[in-house]
Amino acid sequence: MENRARRKKEHIRYSLMLERLLKRDIFSDVTLLHNCLSEVNLDEIDISTQFQGLELRKPIIINAITGGFPLAFTINQQIAKVARELNLAMAVGSQRIALRDKAAQKSFKVVRKVNPDGIIFANIGADASTEEVLEVVDMIKADAVQIHLNTPQEIVMAEGRKKFEGTIEKISKIASEVKVPVIVKEVGFGIAKEEAKILADCGIKIIDIGGAGGTDFIAIENMRNKKNAVPVLEMWGIPTPISLIEVLSEVGDRVDVIASGGLKTGLDAAKALALGAKAAGFAGAVLNRLIKGGPLALKKYLERVERELIYTMAMVGARNLSELRKRPLIIEGRTYNWLKFRGIN
Ligand code: FNR
Repeated sequence: MENRARRKKEHIRYSLMLERLLKRDIFSDVTLLHNCLSEVNLDEIDISTQFQGLELRKPIIINAITGGFPLAFTINQQIAKVARELNLAMAVGSQRIALRDKAAQKSFKVVRKVNPDGIIFANIGADASTEEVLEVVDMIKADAVQIHLNTPQEIVMAEGRKKFEGTIEKISKIASEVKVPVIVKEVGFGIAKEEAKILADCGIKIIDIGGAGGTDFIAIENMRNKKNAVPVLEMWGIPTPISLIEVLSEVGDRVDVIASGGLKTGLDAAKALALGAKAAGFAGAVLNRLIKGGPLALKKYLERVERELIYTMAMVGARNLSELRKRPLIIEGRTYNWLKFRGIN
């Protein structure tokens, strides 16, 4: 158990070091068209969103980060307080560490304790059995559960899993046996349309595309294990805007899609929502603000993200997210070429 906690601490430390290096504007190929005749009053903008019975007051989700050891207790407690104050949905980090360890459960349960009425997502890897999924949901009385896919990380991580057979069957079983909404999410490598179809055929109704361009777990594992590092594989994955459009084009009519991976601003969120996402997830940026500036800095940051989203909606002339989805946008550059090559309009 000690090793797991050490690994999680290192993930936090190295992800913060990488955040500093990441200054990329991942949605730079996407432009929302200015509307010079917008008649939208700022105070009438409604940013609420609904999917699979979940009612979110705001479309910003604090994505899965951590849990299972003392520092994680503090991080989760502080994030949960900000989530409660700002009415944001929040996911906890992988709860596998707490399945057989009562002490580790505290750092997850604190999230529900701090925010008894908030929307909280449980989290566990795709190798989990249905029983384990039910246990992590029950542990924090979760409103939904995230099942994470992180094959590249497991492959590169020295102590990671090396066998992946049976994943699709497990996901299928989870989809049919777990009663709370199930979100299948990537952790920063993205999801292509072919796999989105398989997930939808398994009965998955919410996909968080977790695209490339933000937190890079191959880079993090390389920093943890310099001797066996594989730097050439860093930045592996499908960039967030592309993965979002791929998945929406294939299963957008039967799956609700959450955009995440490298999102930093309310303008990023606005672009993702305009492309068709139901919500936008932020992990690395949240952790970075919290560790560097404390809970107040995190709150101010997330308030700014919300302001940027609302201002953008006013400037394109959208009163709510369904109007935002109908506004014109322009796609250029690598994103345009990729989608053309893939036959996606
Ligand atoms: C993560 N992420 C993550 N995801 C998950 O499903 N379970 C987990 O336990 C973790 N753990 C974790 C730790 C740390 C330190 C970070 C920074 C991230 C992945 C996260 O939820 C998200 O999918 C990716 O980080 C991509 O989004 P960002 O960070 O680019 O916004």
